[in-house]
Amino acid sequence: MSSTVQSRVDATSTDLTPAMLELGVCYYPEQWPREKWPEDAARMVELGLDWVRIGEFSWSAVEPEPGQFDWSFMDEAIDVLGKAGLKVILGTPTAAPPKWLIDRHPDILAVGPDGHVRRFGARRHYCFSSRTYFREAARITRAFVERYGHHPFVRAWQTDNEYGDHDTIYSYSAEAERAFRLWLENRYGTIDALNEAWGTRFWSMRYRHFDEVDLPLHVVEEPSPTHLVDFVRFSSDQVVQFNRQQVEIIRAGSPGRPVTHNFMSHNIDFDHFKLSEDLDVASWDVYPMGGLINGRLPDEEKARLLRTGDPDQVAFNHDLYRAAGRGRVWVMEQQPGPVNWAAHNQAPADGMVRLWTWLAYAHGVDMVAYFRWRQAPFAQEQFHAGLLLPDSTPDQAFHETATVAAERERLPKNRQRERAKVALVMDYESRWASRALPQGRTYQASAICLDWYAALSRHGVDIDIVSQESDLEGYALVICPDLLIPNTGFIERLKASQAKVLFGPRSGSKTPDMHIPDGLPPGPLRDLIDIRVTRVESLPSPESETVLHGNRSFAAGTWRETIETGESVLATFTGAYRPGSPALVGNAGVRYLTALPSREWLDALMRDCLDWAGISWLPDLGDIRLARRGDLTFAFNFGTEAKELPIPANAGILVGESYLEPAGVTIWRHI
Ligand code: GLA
Repeated sequence: MSSTVQSRVDATSTDLTPAMLELGVCYYPEQWPREKWPEDAARMVELGLDWVRIGEFSWSAVEPEPGQFDWSFMDEAIDVLGKAGLKVILGTPTAAPPKWLIDRHPDILAVGPDGHVRRFGARRHYCFSSRTYFREAARITRAFVERYGHHPFVRAWQTDNEYGDHDTIYSYSAEAERAFRLWLENRYGTIDALNEAWGTRFWSMRYRHFDEVDLPLHVVEEPSPTHLVDFVRFSSDQVVQFNRQQVEIIRAGSPGRPVTHNFMSHNIDFDHFKLSEDLDVASWDVYPMGGLINGRLPDEEKARLLRTGDPDQVAFNHDLYRAAGRGRVWVMEQQPGPVNWAAHNQAPADGMVRLWTWLAYAHGVDMVAYFRWRQAPFAQEQFHAGLLLPDSTPDQAFHETATVAAERERLPKNRQRERAKVALVMDYESRWASRALPQGRTYQASAICLDWYAALSRHGVDIDIVSQESDLEGYALVICPDLLIPNTGFIERLKASQAKVLFGPRSGSKTPDMHIPDGLPPGPLRDLIDIRVTRVESLPSPESETVLHGNRSFAAGTWRETIETGESVLATFTGAYRPGSPALVGNAGVRYLTALPSREWLDALMRDCLDWAGISWLPDLGDIRLARRGDLTFAFNFGTEAKELPIPANAGILVGESYLEPAGVTIWRHI
């Protein structure tokens, strides 16, 4: 673990363990006349806001000329906001270095997958491997920390902004190539070890020394999958190192202030668990409308859910980043209305900002900040809503925030999210492996994980997302949708736990060097289940195959494995190709699925596994979702029809009604 892990802020600090949901907003004083700031601050407090995030794009405002700092605007903004009673989250401004810096040091710029330099004029115009930028990021972070590290109004720090936004994790610059070669030498020691791992005797790809290794770009056909995965591992490590440097500077100069970074929805370009080891709280940016438009659901579902969003995508990310934050998670940017960057930018249904806010709290989030206070009438995001319209009149989300602020008072304090009975394993390396070798055009690992999560949520089950490093104590069911590269520590913890385990196809199918394991897949998982995968095929349609599971027939999806097994066969293929082949096998503790199930089969499979693990479930809730935080249960209606809720007789409703309107929220307490 990094050196900063030991110096994390004490998790009992009130800023990390508030008695009740706290609210905040993203604010850009540099975009507005100073005379507006006091009124803005007063209105934020009157609205019920506790936090305000500023500064993440302020570099050219505070250092307009090289080495010449003008702190006046930042000093005054922090002073105005703090005196009004708001807690300031100060962003380090490294997501947008100034033009004069880029002109002095063009080696800072990244090179995109098209081979072109990604130039100044927007943001995130830097390469994580630039040695110049590593120094400059430290310099500006140190300047901010020296000035504000002990400021009483600065109560937390955000490093940079959304690593990975605009696809900026992977750079193909000269700096990246140099750093990659050093990283490879550090990983392999000798070029012979690299050649062995990369399988370079295939297609005469052999290297004589590390300086011959290029970045995996503009290669005639796909590079060695190990080359690809190693480049992703390297890039991920570069982000972690870039972030860690800032965290260490902040820890040293601003003690007692939690450090966070605001992640993106379900981004797999780097290992978020590894980066979060250096944070006190994980935060992320919640944009459900764009997430629906750009997401996994079929068009007819997107049309039906157009103004409420994917009922499971947001909750999945809350649970993912709660895990990354070791139980501490914030929403740093909550969508307040139409945005500007998705393929289409619809407005959410009235009531959805309130629903999303309570959904966050129900999933363990302790602070929800809205992006942004006021819609800017200029520049790239002028279509992007805020709590206020450009003329400062309240927009829809302002009113919904006020409702939440009032409803908070009706809930008991100090309720925490408790450990669920079901754990779903998210493994970034396994994702990188299947992305490097998809085998089929329709294989979408991110959709698989979310589909399996959704099938459990539809049955009213709370889920924890876990990594391979997580402890598995207390889980009754562990689900591994796509654990291609299991590690021995995880396998040992699985053996030691009492949990039932379900593996999805491809689990155990790759070694860390991206080879087929000796003895065939599932490799080391054979310690848990007696199977050998002898054939793998990808199929064009989710209805390509049919299976018989119990006494019901289902469609099976776009992936099929042929296996040999000594275990009980629980479902079989029934189509024309090798009918009777095992589709689901298992023993008392472990099951393995050889296909990607259709939604109907997945629902039946999850019900069956929940029964197998002794976990109660509810009949398919349709577009209703439930979540529990302590003795509070939250119900959310993502659909277009009002529904009567399954509220226990001994429960007391604190917010809402038992008949839940579309975009509505009901909260009850178990007495
Ligand atoms: C991201 C960024 C913000 C802003 C929003 C717009 O979350 O962090 O700066 O661009 O998107 O939705």
